[in-house]
Amino acid sequence: MAQQRLDKIIASTGRYSRREVKTLVREGRVLVDGRIAASAEDKCDPLTARISVNGEELFYREHTYVMLHKPAGVLSATEDGRGETVLDLLAPEYRKIGLFPVGRLDKDTEGLLLLTDDGALAHDLLAPKKHVDKVYFVRTDGALDDADCKAFVQGITLGDGLECLPAKLEILKSDAQSEALITIHEGKFHQIKRMLASRGKPVVYLKRLSMGSLTLDEGLSKGEYRLLTAEEIKNLRESGQFAQGKAGADK
Ligand code: URA
Repeated sequence: MAQQRLDKIIASTGRYSRREVKTLVREGRVLVDGRIAASAEDKCDPLTARISVNGEELFYREHTYVMLHKPAGVLSATEDGRGETVLDLLAPEYRKIGLFPVGRLDKDTEGLLLLTDDGALAHDLLAPKKHVDKVYFVRTDGALDDADCKAFVQGITLGDGLECLPAKLEILKSDAQSEALITIHEGKFHQIKRMLASRGKPVVYLKRLSMGSLTLDEGLSKGEYRLLTAEEIKNLRESGQFAQGKAGADK
């Protein structure tokens, strides 16, 4: 891998800011391959150099992937003067490394939100042509029925005439308030709410359960988050690539 500045490498772990790295280097607390670093601007290969700070070895990662259980009431944005954003839920070290949400959930929607600084993966997961599956749990006002399922398979036309791709509606409970799982492959603005509004069955609760191969860890309470495992990252990359092939085949 190309050589990079020491302050950039250490800051990318999210543990220290570049300014803190400068101080740490000045105080002789940063070692590179067992030798005290002379300057925060020194360059080395982040994949092969052994870097330690205060005696603790750092493990470089090119990108960061965070799974958040988004609670209702928080905006899927990186900054917003009007209210709390998903970034405000993260510890300070995760707020300064350029993470952004991969796709938006409405303020009142809960569930799986991936935050990353990996623009290429985000593009693969979001590009409309890639058709990555997103699964939601939904509760509606009004009884869902077979006619709704058929309409989803055929492709719903929204109130403004916009046509949705075929989607899947699996009814879990049909009652005055119904429950269902919905799988969509695109991400139009307020898509599920508008699809169900067009059927006269407004959404009263919405939660995203999965995106491609990534499933919400039910061990995470609302507002909690964790880093993705290496296996989850690998599978997610494959979801994006596989979806691309699938979309290609549709053409
Ligand atoms: N569809 C919606 O209507 N809202 C969301 O937050 C996600 C999908």
